[in-house]
Amino acid sequence: MKEIDFSLKAKMYDLVSELTSDEQELMNEAIIARNNAYAPYSKFKVGAALLLDNGKIITGNNQENAAYPSGMCAERVAIWSAGALYPNMVVKKIAITAASSEVEVKNPVGPCGACRQALYEYEFNQKEPIEIIFMGETGKIIKVSSLASLLPFSFDSSYL
Ligand code: THU
Repeated sequence: MKEIDFSLKAKMYDLVSELTSDEQELMNEAIIARNNAYAPYSKFKVGAALLLDNGKIITGNNQENAAYPSGMCAERVAIWSAGALYPNMVVKKIAITAASSEVEVKNPVGPCGACRQALYEYEFNQKEPIEIIFMGETGKIIKVSSLASLLPFSFDSSYL
């Protein structure tokens, strides 16, 4: 038996102004997207903004539905929109933010498991890591260097 250690290194910031200027812009776009989210049921609005290697920023937000499981998370709305618009894109970074009208979201909100898997598909294909920067409405900001780091033993097309 051999023990395998998957340790995760993340950077934690106190303020958005500590991020690079392109990351600040990306987070601002995510905040705008978050404010436009359609979340009448959960009241939990999420915004995501992707920076592509051609410099374009593509945003998405959660889109809920009266038939609850038919709704979709912000991150997948964003990545699939980017994939639809730019089929050969390379994604450099994604910024994510969440806010609720019910509670103050103070803790950084990372992508859910399904969104990690969906985003990882693109990271695997482009063979270049996608940085993930995420926050709540207030509080700390977290940056991790890749989707792979958030998905140990990840599943990809090489298994098929
Ligand atoms: N949500 C996202 O948009 N992204 C996530 O990674 C987690 C959850 C949305 C889905 C739903 O509309 C609301 O947040 C509450 O779960």
